[in-house]
Amino acid sequence: MFDNWEELETSIKDCIKCKLCRNRTNIVFGTGTKEANIMFIGEGPGADEDSQGVPFVGKAGQLMNKAFQGLEINRDNVYIANIVKCRPPQNRVPEKDEANACLNYLRNQVILVKPKIIVLLGSTALRNILGDEHSITKERGIWTEKKGIRYMPTWHPAAILRDESKKIEFWKDLKLVKEEAEKQGLKL
Ligand code: URA
Repeated sequence: MFDNWEELETSIKDCIKCKLCRNRTNIVFGTGTKEANIMFIGEGPGADEDSQGVPFVGKAGQLMNKAFQGLEINRDNVYIANIVKCRPPQNRVPEKDEANACLNYLRNQVILVKPKIIVLLGSTALRNILGDEHSITKERGIWTEKKGIRYMPTWHPAAILRDESKKIEFWKDLKLVKEEAEKQGLKL
């Protein structure tokens, strides 16, 4: 574990811990405020993220931005990262060995950011962070607390692009996040 961002970022720069390193253009480390109260965790970079090196800048990111704007959550005041830092081919779900190889980086980011709330975007984030026994269908919209952090699982924005009917639930879940942040007096 690194106790500063520079060392952590440098350690990731040349990562070859899993096969996803072979096809990456850029490592997608994370974006936002390093002192964020709220952290969002997605699955892995897509084509746009791979080419820009920034998470959630493609279609799914644009959908997320719209929700942020609608709910008056400032994207610059949160921190956004993914389970894996390199793009899986054809945007497939990261395999277990890939996620496991990358998880310590994310854990280190969580330790440095010290968020009060973590939003888990989709099944891959939920299962890799809270455990494989969890189900996004059953648990989205329901708070879980672990080691002083409140977790809100919700749909991945890409799932909403495939099925519009999930949008209302996604907004509802983010509204719960906003209300909880306000209750705790956290900056958004
Ligand atoms: N989907 C993700 O899970 N993460 C991104 O950064 C982009 C799309």
